Amino acid sequence: MDGFITFGVLTVSDSCHDGSKQDVAGPTLCQEIELTFPKSKIIFQEIVPDEQKQIEETLLSWCLDGCNVILTTGGTGCSPRDITPEATKAVIEKELPGMSQFMLSKSFAITDKAMLSRPVCGVRKKTLIINLPGSTKGSKECFSFVVSAIPHAVALIN
Ligand code: MTE
Repeated sequence: MDGFITFGVLTVSDSCHDGSKQDVAGPTLCQEIELTFPKSKIIFQEIVPDEQKQIEETLLSWCLDGCNVILTTGGTGCSPRDITPEATKAVIEKELPGMSQFMLSKSFAITDKAMLSRPVCGVRKKTLIINLPGSTKGSKECFSFVVSAIPHAVALIN
């Protein structure tokens, strides 16, 4: 790796997918990626509904297409349709619980509502997958908490 990292940003949200709500979290994460990793390239950005099969299929296809890092935003909570962690667990081969735990422990200092998020982070082949919460504020905060580990993780799996 020479510092060049390819990213995919997947917004998981029924309301953003059907157009009743504007996706702000996804584009904000793209901006954060570009600011933090000037050499990076965002090769995929998409919105899917809270459907396990669609989330899994998108993650698998981006992994196959050589995406280094996939950030998901949304669907980590405990409402009936929240299914992103389950979809992520079905796709990853190695879980990185420390990454999720670090994200959560940092988040607890900001909001006790972080207790309601169930992020999963892990690796499938050469791709690192990171679940972030759905709010623009929460996803930006949680990205900032794990960002320092991304280059080394990508180097380790490639
Ligand atoms: N984590 C941080 N750092 N900041 C936040 O604002 N929001 C929380 C939580 N995690 C939040 C956060 C809220 S309000 C919810 S409901 C859960 O993430 C789950 O969000 P999701 O279902 O949209 O993924």
